[in-house]
Amino acid sequence: MKSLISTLLLLLMPLVAAADNGLRCAKSVFSQPDVRFMQKIKSIHADAIIGVKGLPSGLQWNARRNLVEGKVKAPGTYTYTVASSINGQVSEEQIKLIVSDKLAMPLPFMGWLSWNSVEGDVSEAIVKSVADMFKANGLFEAGWNTIMMDDLWQARKRADDGKPLPDPKRFPNSLRPVADYVHGKGMKFGLYTDAADKTCAGAFGSYGYERIDAEQYAQWNVDIVKCDYCNAPPEQDTAIVRYRRLGDAFKAVARPITLYICEWGDRKPWLWGAESGGSCWRVSADVRDRWTCEPGGTGVVESIKAMKNIAQYVGVNRFNDADMLCTGLHGKGKSSNDLCFGTPGMTQDEYATQFALWCMWSSPMALSFDPRANTITKEDLKILTNRHLIALNQDRMGQQADFISDADSLVVFAKDLENGDVALSVTNMSSKPLEATFHFTQIPALDADKRYQCRDLWTGERLSAVKRSFTTKVRPHATRVFRLSK
Ligand code: GLA
Repeated sequence: MKSLISTLLLLLMPLVAAADNGLRCAKSVFSQPDVRFMQKIKSIHADAIIGVKGLPSGLQWNARRNLVEGKVKAPGTYTYTVASSINGQVSEEQIKLIVSDKLAMPLPFMGWLSWNSVEGDVSEAIVKSVADMFKANGLFEAGWNTIMMDDLWQARKRADDGKPLPDPKRFPNSLRPVADYVHGKGMKFGLYTDAADKTCAGAFGSYGYERIDAEQYAQWNVDIVKCDYCNAPPEQDTAIVRYRRLGDAFKAVARPITLYICEWGDRKPWLWGAESGGSCWRVSADVRDRWTCEPGGTGVVESIKAMKNIAQYVGVNRFNDADMLCTGLHGKGKSSNDLCFGTPGMTQDEYATQFALWCMWSSPMALSFDPRANTITKEDLKILTNRHLIALNQDRMGQQADFISDADSLVVFAKDLENGDVALSVTNMSSKPLEATFHFTQIPALDADKRYQCRDLWTGERLSAVKRSFTTKVRPHATRVFRLSK
């Protein structure tokens, strides 16, 4: 009888373990030593009581907000347990925390990707001129420092020994001198591949060549690789395996190479991207140079939808990527103009909104202009070099802003910052000017009874102190951003 019961129990156990416990949180998290860390824990059950066990010294549980916070001084690998109780039924999740000053990408990259406007013309000359432009126009000084080649840098086929080769005409000296040039400017160099035989544009991909490619990328001195998912099987399980093969291959080479996953959010990479060795992952289909992209593409409106409910998966070295910025394109890109009805391009307020939201979300940011056309204006540079907004994107706690509300055509986000400040944004989704009020009781990161210093981040201006609520005007499709300090 006893053995029958234990057999039954054993049979039942996998079922219990596999059942969805309702917890929605990252399972591998990262922090830099002695830098404030935060992990938000969510449950799909509103009545779940959440708690933690076994926190390493320096971290505390914030029961009011359901988050882990604090600082861990010593580098190392730590584990703790998140427990969720619903009607007395307890389920648990193990969290692995890696504290290290050698993480692949502690802060989201800020840089340039060739695809939107350069496509198959990407060349040694173009990469070098983007690096030169970043230096000359103040972008580098403001933090823009990662120059990446997208699809079609490749030759028609690999070398006979299987090694990847760049297009010989556009890269007559292969890639090492290109990387060296970019590094010589104090910047990072990246390229693109695909987790299948062929890339989206039909060049050779890395499937089956992961080790060879990683070795060659390391010899070329590549820092970051965007890995696409065209021509690969659709299942999540397969994607996990394929990206892990790339991630493992990158880890095995002498040079640190960051894995940038690009499967467009279709397989929820925020659930497994970090475990596959990725430091960021795209969350949507390609972003187009549009406020909204009908019928099936991604404009700013659709980016907000893609990002708004996945903030708790983001932290240091694990970022949701909202795709290339169109700021600076003015409808003059190439692939950034397809997929939607109507004329491409956005207003200056819409471009500024895109940049502000990417900063609020700690999304990686890649400009995508063609240096030959030089479409970036003085007004664009003013947006893109705003140090107050960049400080949000590059905040060392790496938190994505939480979605607060979207009532009355006003989208509000709130972002926790390393020094305890909170950034608030409000985007006017309507075509009329609106007044927006931030109500502190609706924003968990704020203390409803405390008085805060308030800075307008677009102008840098200090405003009068605020308490409980404050009201601001927002132009159509514009975004106001404020930083509140206790
Ligand atoms: C996909 C990606 C784009 C770009 C192109 C290149 O569409 O999502 O970002 O890399 O492939 O072919």
